[in-house]
Parts: sequence; C-alpha cells; structure tokens
Amino acid sequence: MSKISRRRFFEGTGAGIVATAVPLQGQETKAPPPGTVPRTTIQVTVNGERRKIEVEDRWTLVEVLRDHLGLTGSKIGCDRGECGACTVLLDGKPVYSCSQLAVWADGRSVQTVEGLSPNGQLDPLQQAFIQHDGPQCGFCTSGQLMSAKALLNRNPHPTLDEVRHAMTGNICRCSNYNRYVESVMAAAGTLSASARRKA
Ligand code: FES
Ligand code: FES
Repeated sequence: MSKISRRRFFEGTGAGIVATAVPLQGQETKAPPPGTVPRTTIQVTVNGERRKIEVEDRWTLVEVLRDHLGLTGSKIGCDRGECGACTVLLDGKPVYSCSQLAVWADGRSVQTVEGLSPNGQLDPLQQAFIQHDGPQCGFCTSGQLMSAKALLNRNPHPTLDEVRHAMTGNICRCSNYNRYVESVMAAAGTLSASARRKA
C-alpha cells in the first residue's frame, strides 16, 4: 500500500493558505473604522451561475459563500486550514475556502455542495454517502463530498488507496473514515468484497 499523508493532500490540491496574524498578548489589534477597508468587485461563477459581488479584500471565500450568498452547506470547523469542513471546488480543484481570499476567486469557478444537487435531486455520490452511512453528525460531510467529487471527476474508478489519499485533507471528528471511503468506492462502482473488508 502506498504511503498516505496529509502533506501529500496539500501538495496535490494546491490549497492556498491565508497567513493569519495572531496578536501577542498586549498587542491586540483594533478593527479598522467602518468604510476604510478596501473593497473590490469580483465576478465569480458559483454553481454554474455568474455572480458579481462587492467584497472586502479581507473576506475569505467561505465568508462570502455563507454570509453573503446564503450557501451555508460549506461548514467552518477550524477557520484556519486544518479540518477540511469548508472544502469547495475552485476551478475543479478542492480547496479550503476558509484559507482563500474571496478576491482570489475573481474570474474563476466555484462549486459548493449545493451545486451537487442543483434541481433538488441528489448526486449519486450523495446517495452513496447515505446508503453507506457516511454522515454521522454530518458536520464534515459537505467537505468530504467535495473532495470525493473532485477525485471522481478526474478519476472515475479510483483504487482504495487513491480514495484514501484524496480524502486525507478532511478530518471527521466522528471518525467515520471507513464509511466515507466505502461510500466513494460504491459511487465509483469499485467497492469489492475485499475492499469492504480492508476499508
Ligand atoms: S474550516 Fe476551513 S479547513 Fe477547517
Ligand atoms: S460525521 Fe461527524 S464530523 Fe464527520
């Protein structure tokens, strides 16, 4: 079995990390006065629909998706690029949307979990997640779905190791990793009896 690591996930997805300045004790920074934060109008295709949005340059992508476009399917677990709950596809690649500035999405395409079922009909991947008991509390599920979707888009019939590798960037506090992997294998039509035993 090839070595699976979270480091390889980061290298493979090209997820950018926004540097977070943590003030030292006694050095707390004050919020800038209203109206002094630079704003930029960006054009982003979100779930196939072109959107023109004015954003503050400091806003993250997940902030815009959740708080300004009402797409609350992307969750914020850590807000610092560690858990994967906020994973969306940016030009088809999985990224942590808490670690991307919204202005970086200008001219690009974003798919969120809402984009998997635009007409209310669940994507086969979502159906497989349900059938194989992927979600437990469900908090990490949308991120797991988007990482799995990116994998199946580029590799419709992944091996067990390829699925595990593709989802190493998504942490599940319910520790239901085996079920998530099994769900993706089932959606890909590659879930064998032996894979089920190993998963
Ligand atoms: S909320 Fe973005 S990685 Fe955790
Ligand atoms: S299902 Fe609960 S965090 Fe993953």
